[in-house]
Amino acid sequence: EAAPSFTLNPAAIVAGEMKALTQNIQDLLSSGHPSLDKVAKYYIQSEGKHLRPLVVLLMARATYNCPKLPLDARLPAANINTPITSPSILQDFNPSYTSDAPSTSPSTIATQISPSQTRLAEITEMIHAASLLHDDVIDNAEARRGSPSGNLAFGNKMAILAGDFLLGRASVALARLRDAEVVELLATVIANLVEGEFMQLHNGATSPSGDARGPPLRYSPAAFEHYIQKTYLKTASLISKSCRAAAILGGSTRDVADAAYLYGKNLGLSFQLVDDLLDYTVASSDLGKPAQADLKLGLATAPVLFAWEQYEELGPMINRKFAEAGDVDKAWEMVQKSNGLERTRELAESFSRKAIEAIGMFPDSEAKEGLEQIARKGLTRKK
Ligand code: FPP
Ligand code: MG
Ligand code: MG
Repeated sequence: EAAPSFTLNPAAIVAGEMKALTQNIQDLLSSGHPSLDKVAKYYIQSEGKHLRPLVVLLMARATYNCPKLPLDARLPAANINTPITSPSILQDFNPSYTSDAPSTSPSTIATQISPSQTRLAEITEMIHAASLLHDDVIDNAEARRGSPSGNLAFGNKMAILAGDFLLGRASVALARLRDAEVVELLATVIANLVEGEFMQLHNGATSPSGDARGPPLRYSPAAFEHYIQKTYLKTASLISKSCRAAAILGGSTRDVADAAYLYGKNLGLSFQLVDDLLDYTVASSDLGKPAQADLKLGLATAPVLFAWEQYEELGPMINRKFAEAGDVDKAWEMVQKSNGLERTRELAESFSRKAIEAIGMFPDSEAKEGLEQIARKGLTRKK
């Protein structure tokens, strides 16, 4: 039966699928333009942990023995095996050339994960990689995961194009899952990523007329709500909707899909809060990217928003995005002497608990334990 959690390695439970992930994505990305392929693959290859696909695969497996819709209420299995290419314009482009005969994969029975669910995990990682390529252009980043960022290595233009290409190929792969609800979920994720990035860019709100205006000068719970909403859109939407899609592709009931979604939502929020905390507590050499980056980028994340409740002087600095000389250092000091870091950690812990609670009704399995462990381990990570 299930191994005790301290020896459990979540990645080992879905090792076969995880091992094939990078190559499968590369197969989805070949364009016939080697330099485009190279940039598109850049963050796929450099990612060490592939956390999102890992969670999607574990969710697929953890929901395998959960309540299912009756067979006649489920969509037929899709054939996802036809290679995706960019055909020559001399050939007629006919997307329906893909046979809809369901594919059978020998691994399906052994691992309880369907080919569609495996493909979903790959699509999730492709969307993530696209968002990072674009994010690093927007943030003018120089490093990611200890290596030069895509924009620095290949230039802004190639980074943007490669991100768009990833989204295009992810969309083709998504359409081939032949499940309109899942297409809608992942298409919404792409829109949400842009909305989250937009909210972050404008720091505060936009007025009803659409003009950008900064946040208020006094702390109000609305500022924190804005931050949580932004965090959901930027980080938690992808993992929560991918978890829901994994349950749907497995034929799960609505209750199970809701639970999968809630797990992903709370996990995503917890992870981003820890991320925002580490920006204040870890040196850049350990982080693989510059620390104190958020303040320098003008971003008011949870630690500084909590500190603002104690130190009203932070209001004007937040409002001008820490742009005046000395702002970054002053704000950093105030965060350090406030209870902002502690409260950020407590909030991350409470989201992590909610993630674990959400899947409490799932039958016991190693995959479920893996999901629980990921939610707990996120809290103690150092980068
Ligand atoms: C990383 O945040 C950024 C994101 C998770 C989302 C970025 C979204 C866009 C650029 C919109 C375009 C979206 C697509 C799908 C192309 P961060 O800058 O706080 O984290 P970092 O430290 O990892 O850079
Ligand atoms: Mg960034
Ligand atoms: Mg960013």
